[in-house]
Amino acid sequence: MTKRKRERKSLNYFDKIFPYNGDCEIFGIIGKPLKHTASPAMHNALFRKYELKGIYIPFELEKVDLKLFVNFSRKFLKGFNVTVPYKKDVMKYLDEIDETARDMGAVNTVVNKNGILKGFNTDYLGLKNSLKEDLGVSIRGKNIIVLGAGGAAISAVFLCVKERANRVFLINRTFEKALKIAKKFKNRLDIKPLFLLDKDSVERAFDESELLIQTTSVGLKKSDPLIINADLLKKVKYVYDMIYKPNPTKLLAAAKKRGCKISGGIGMLCHQGAKAFQMWTGKKPDINLMKQIVEEAVFK
Ligand code: ATR
Repeated sequence: MTKRKRERKSLNYFDKIFPYNGDCEIFGIIGKPLKHTASPAMHNALFRKYELKGIYIPFELEKVDLKLFVNFSRKFLKGFNVTVPYKKDVMKYLDEIDETARDMGAVNTVVNKNGILKGFNTDYLGLKNSLKEDLGVSIRGKNIIVLGAGGAAISAVFLCVKERANRVFLINRTFEKALKIAKKFKNRLDIKPLFLLDKDSVERAFDESELLIQTTSVGLKKSDPLIINADLLKKVKYVYDMIYKPNPTKLLAAAKKRGCKISGGIGMLCHQGAKAFQMWTGKKPDINLMKQIVEEAVFK
């Protein structure tokens, strides 16, 4: 391609993603790293589909710039998402925090209403909707295993609180982290922290449970090992992995082989994004379109 053609092509591309002259609302996502986030593709496609004058930009930030960004956003952005590692840190700079987000101790969506920044958390609702839509399963009255005790595990445990699970087994490599989460929710949920390497207790948890929700980062790399004995998966009916790439993860492939109904995390990603989009624009977006866009963006 000649230099001139290349320039023309890139101008056309810019026009496609930013077709307005100043008359446009700005949204975005903060986090680090953001190189692989599918959120800009997802939201920008929705703005185009619904002919809304909006643009969604990734802002990869250092922690020292968090306060600066929040003050900037108060003037110039209509809203933004927050991802790892700032879901907790961002809270101290916002003007208001919704009760659920405060309870979870994490914000993933900020709405700017006339210069007042309010933080919400749509992650646990994203998980709830995806479990229903992609696995046909609800939490109520069930015994559930949550694997992992990091930030992502909080959404799963919180959903179990809200939807009244019967019992939760919280299994983690570092027992103290599982214990800390269990202590936080113990008055509202029957929750048992377990050490990943305590084979007998882990096996008993599988004997008693119907659904496994995988929240660790293990599985993101194709070379990652399984951290539980694959044959335990025979004991549960449903396995949900919050990881969406690769799809299926090694865990999901092993679970499928053993007769489980499985789902990866694309639905959760789309549903949390749909909720945020609705808060910002008042429009309830088409989930199937979002799934299609994300799959294209993530697996291209
Ligand atoms: P996130 O906010 O995405 O949940 P995180 O807070 O770093 O990220 O948590 C990652 C989770 O993956 C933790 O539960 C972590 O276990 P530890 O609490 O013991 O660190 C889990 N994890 C990461 N690598 C692991 C491995 N190789 N084996 C078992 N668990 C692992």
